[in-house]
Amino acid sequence: MRIPMVNLRWTLDQTQKAWRENLERMHERSHYILGPEVAAFEPEFAAALDAKHAVGVSNGTTAIELCLREANVKGEVITSALTAPFTGVAIQAAGATPIFADVDPETLLIDPKSAEKRIGKRTAALLPVHLHGQPCDLNHWRILARAAAVPLVQDACQAHGATWKGKPFSSYSPYVAYSFYPTKNLGCLGDGGAVVTSSPRIDQRLRQLRDGGRKNGEQVARITGINARLDEMQACYLRAFLPQLRAWNEQRAKLAALYDEAFANCGAVRPVRRLTGGVVHLYVIRVRKRDPLRQHLAGLGIATAIHYAVPLHLHPAFASAKQKRGDLLNAERAAREIVSLPLWPGMTEAAIGEVSQAVKKFVGD
Ligand SMILES: Cc1ncc(COP(=O)(O)O)c(C=O)c1O
Repeated sequence: MRIPMVNLRWTLDQTQKAWRENLERMHERSHYILGPEVAAFEPEFAAALDAKHAVGVSNGTTAIELCLREANVKGEVITSALTAPFTGVAIQAAGATPIFADVDPETLLIDPKSAEKRIGKRTAALLPVHLHGQPCDLNHWRILARAAAVPLVQDACQAHGATWKGKPFSSYSPYVAYSFYPTKNLGCLGDGGAVVTSSPRIDQRLRQLRDGGRKNGEQVARITGINARLDEMQACYLRAFLPQLRAWNEQRAKLAALYDEAFANCGAVRPVRRLTGGVVHLYVIRVRKRDPLRQHLAGLGIATAIHYAVPLHLHPAFASAKQKRGDLLNAERAAREIVSLPLWPGMTEAAIGEVSQAVKKFVGD
């Protein structure tokens, strides 16, 4: 595609000196798993998010799974119907059952009122998703979790640097899961993730759980763990990218504002509402003729994507939720209308102009 969804070349070029030096040190040491790069990255990431602890793990899915395992969650976990299937996969991997709540029609974030209706005797955790980089109302979620006496696990896989009411996510609950999938606001060049927590006890337990239940490199598996370690090579890239996170988020916000401006008087294009404290992970619009629009843009060499095309309650793998078409109407409607437009730090204003003009021309405004 002439204009892809994301192009990582610019971020790689910007940080080349740092990651090359980090890689060189790593190869010199010839130590590739749980070494000094991961050990250095973890407090750096925690500090960048105004948190106390971060535990590097193998991806965002295992970050969520480890939070649920740490909290010994076994029953039903209520999460959003509009999220990556991996949110549901993580819940199942922890031995729990995902139950899906509908989304707010404006922000597309999980609606706490819809979740509240589904809280029952079997509910074992609440798992709001900070979708597209936008923050869920964590005050509301904390109240719900306390009333139900269950842990609040946050899927922040798309929301590096986002806050709620000026406070870091980790101040609302001790389980915040991040993904470093390459296209995320902070990504590595493979799979990676982290759990951020304010609790030293949970930090220690997560370290043990990610390393097969072993403690401090001992050869004895003391609790039932999994293998979910972040590797040294990914930490080399993450340490080079992390100092740019704030600037890259600012750049994403500026580019999103240009899209907003271009669509301001275009009734047929409705940008999904963004919130104070959010970061722009994806620029998502709603349009009626979504699929023909995508086809048209592809013909012009402009890539698009859908986050997400099938709400999770309609995936055969999550049938145990016993929810059917028509149960979660906002998510189902959104899934038919949303489309994510190209966006990455380093994308040119001219490219934003080209994409927005092409969209407007097609929808006839
Ligand atoms: C909202 C959300 N949850 C979970 C995940 C899973 O993260 P990963 O792909 O790193 O396992 C992702 C990323 O794909 C995501 O966007």
